[in-house]
Amino acid sequence: MPATVINANRLTKRYGVHTVLDAVDVEVQAGECWGLLGPNGAGKTTLLRMVIGATPPSLGQLQVLGYPIPAQATSMRRRIGVVPQKDNLDPDFTVVENLRTYASYFGLKGPVLERRLEELLAFAALESRRNAPISTLSGGMQRRLSLIRALLNEPELLILDEPTTGLDPQARQVLWQRLRALRGRGMTLVLTTHYMEEAQRLCDRVTILDQGRILETGPPQELIRKYIEPQVVEVYGVGLDDWHRTVAASLVERSERVGETMFYYAHDERALLAALNQQPELTYLHRPANLEDVFVKLTGRELRDGQ
Ligand SMILES: Nc1ncnc2c1ncn2[C@@H]1O[C@H](COP(=O)(O)OP(=O)(O)OP(=O)(O)O)[C@@H](O)[C@H]1O
Ligand SMILES: [Mg+2]
Repeated sequence: MPATVINANRLTKRYGVHTVLDAVDVEVQAGECWGLLGPNGAGKTTLLRMVIGATPPSLGQLQVLGYPIPAQATSMRRRIGVVPQKDNLDPDFTVVENLRTYASYFGLKGPVLERRLEELLAFAALESRRNAPISTLSGGMQRRLSLIRALLNEPELLILDEPTTGLDPQARQVLWQRLRALRGRGMTLVLTTHYMEEAQRLCDRVTILDQGRILETGPPQELIRKYIEPQVVEVYGVGLDDWHRTVAASLVERSERVGETMFYYAHDERALLAALNQQPELTYLHRPANLEDVFVKLTGRELRDGQ
């Protein structure tokens, strides 16, 4: 396998006059977990759809597993797995029927298929639901089924578009554990997510995309160190504005208001915490800086709807 699994050079996608991806450069190395982050409409799904050969670039070069895309997308697709943003399981079929249908596209049959089905059902903890119709599965189960369907052809590269959106905290943890296991076996993972904690925990490197342009790429901890003071104190409550103006603003390096919460960023937060302890009306949360702080700083705080 080439060391560079995805190589995109000045990749651009236009729909009419609307430029959805604007000269994007991407390099994903074999064995890493790469996260693509960005507000709604940033172009994440569009980029992934180009990588899997589902939509052609308007401009730029793209190679996946060494294949030029879209020219050799068919050969490339046999070696990758895809978990789409919306589950597209066949609702008329059971769990195992969905898997068998998909396996037939890869010519899988006989004892090899039977063994793989058992392994994957166990991996997704779906053995007891093998004959259940799709409509009777919870959201978490459907997501796990989409995951193992994408693993049937033993892909070298697994692409997941928002794998845990809509899942409850336990279901999300289960999926994280499975993805970490795959990463541990050397599989290259590409995922998009709106959950910064997920990206911070799973990804070796993340790219932050906004309005079709790359803002930053790097390991989560490096980006946090580069952009955010190490300590964050979130404060809300009655009298916040006055207290901020007269006391807090001068005690920290940087502050920002989001809705009814004030975010204070500092290298040394002790004076601020001492002042907060004199203010029973104010509620606060003191925590280390995280990837969400970086995301919000780089992409801004206004709501995005992708135009
Ligand atoms: N087939 C299409 N025709 C025209 N515009 C499109 C098409 N597909 C996507 N777009 C536009 O491209 C932009 C990026 O969409 P995309 O789905 O890639 O965003 P995203 O980052 O995946 O967002 P989300 O987080 O909401 O899933 C949006 O403005 C969208 O409306
Ligand atoms: Mg999307």
